[in-house]
Amino acid sequence: MPAIRPATCADLPRVHEVRHGTAENRLTGPSKVTDKEVLWYMDHAIFLVSQADAGIVQGFTCANHQTGYIWALFVIDGQHRKGRGSGLLGAALQRLKDAGHRQSHLTTGPGTVAEQFYRHRGWIDMGRSLSGEAAFVRHL
Ligand SMILES: CC(C)(COP(=O)(O)OP(=O)(O)OC[C@H]1O[C@@H](n2cnc3c(N)ncnc32)[C@H](O)[C@@H]1OP(=O)(O)O)[C@@H](O)C(=O)NCCC(=O)NCCS
Repeated sequence: MPAIRPATCADLPRVHEVRHGTAENRLTGPSKVTDKEVLWYMDHAIFLVSQADAGIVQGFTCANHQTGYIWALFVIDGQHRKGRGSGLLGAALQRLKDAGHRQSHLTTGPGTVAEQFYRHRGWIDMGRSLSGEAAFVRHL
């Protein structure tokens, strides 16, 4: 299994590549993700990377232990279906549980692989958010 570890500042250029290296659910646009937000997750919340044997980061997740929110889960295209997404999500959910949460929540693009991914992993479909995203909750 790929190693999962906390992200460091040295990972940020590769995290940026991963974030822009997926066809679906790209976090683009200054209104959607700012450097300030990314650094906040590193310093004050949960920011994990999935590292392959060769030491290359192929995926990451950001979660918010203050609210139980999963902000981001990305595995670069070409590295899917190797368990990286499940590993990252499981590690983030364990940290949310350890922080005292009984429930986690997130939104994702409707009709995407990610939507099916969450459905198959016990997330409950809560309908659409105001912005039209598919909203999910999961009991921990
Ligand atoms: C969702 C995502 C993180 C899953 O990562 P992953 O490393 O492929 O996940 P895993 O290998 O642990 O699990 C694979 C599961 O994802 C789904 N999946 C992945 N690729 C798929 C594909 N091409 N077609 C259909 N389902 C697919 C399946 O449910 C699959 O489960 P299965 O192999 O048991 O059928 C990844 O597809 C991704 O980064 N997507 C683009 C970014 C994104 O949409 N992120 C979510 C934003 S909230």
